Amino acid sequence: MPAMLELGVNIDHIATVREARKAVFPNPLEGALLAEKAGAWGITAHLREDRRHINDCDMENLAANVKRLNMEMAVTEEMVGIASRLKPHSCCLVPEKRQELTTEGGLDVLGNYAAIKAAVKELQSKGIVISIFIDPELDQIKAAAESGAEYIELHTGSYANSSGADQRKELDRLIAGAEFADSVGLKVNAGHGIDYDNITGILEIPNLCELNIGHSIVARSIMVGISNAVSEMVDLMRPYNI
Ligand code: PXP
Repeated sequence: MPAMLELGVNIDHIATVREARKAVFPNPLEGALLAEKAGAWGITAHLREDRRHINDCDMENLAANVKRLNMEMAVTEEMVGIASRLKPHSCCLVPEKRQELTTEGGLDVLGNYAAIKAAVKELQSKGIVISIFIDPELDQIKAAAESGAEYIELHTGSYANSSGADQRKELDRLIAGAEFADSVGLKVNAGHGIDYDNITGILEIPNLCELNIGHSIVARSIMVGISNAVSEMVDLMRPYNI
């Protein structure tokens, strides 16, 4: 567990650029190694059922070469099998729909409790740290704790996509969720839609271990290079650790 707030860089959209032309570059592994050098604590990649960005070969290369790979995955037999073989540092269990542009909501732990609990047990038996991506709802957080997962990742998308009083309300839900998670023994990560502006509010959330940030960092990389994009984000996160 990180002793302070750490950055996980999601490199899916490096692969999105490659897939836009079905080319061989840019290489997500190359980006991941540069991100690590620039201060990323971990690297996150989502192997989706439709392989729209990260593919099986990317996942193998990342698992073999990065310091801490966090594999985002749906709770399916196929993905549990791949993760069990690759043994990433951690797995983040997410819901997945084929038609969505990006992950649209947290996992319904209550509604899929038996399957999630079995996947948590199976992956933990391989030495993999488990996190469950959920909305800041107290009953879902409680179910995540009961499933045996060590971490939750709070879905920050509703906060990121709102403004004004609505955004404040979403932030307060995240704060209450993080406090409750801590009280039931869960460690807390957060991610989705976090950017260089809205991160200020994110830093009000207590008990955070790691932020997983992808789109905004990869987008900024086009302008300033990935090393600068990562170190700018690390700098913005620094006040949390003081
Ligand atoms: N965390 C989870 C569980 C996600 O599904 C995603 C998107 O792949 C992210 C974090 C990163 O979100 P973003 O790309 O909006 O920073």
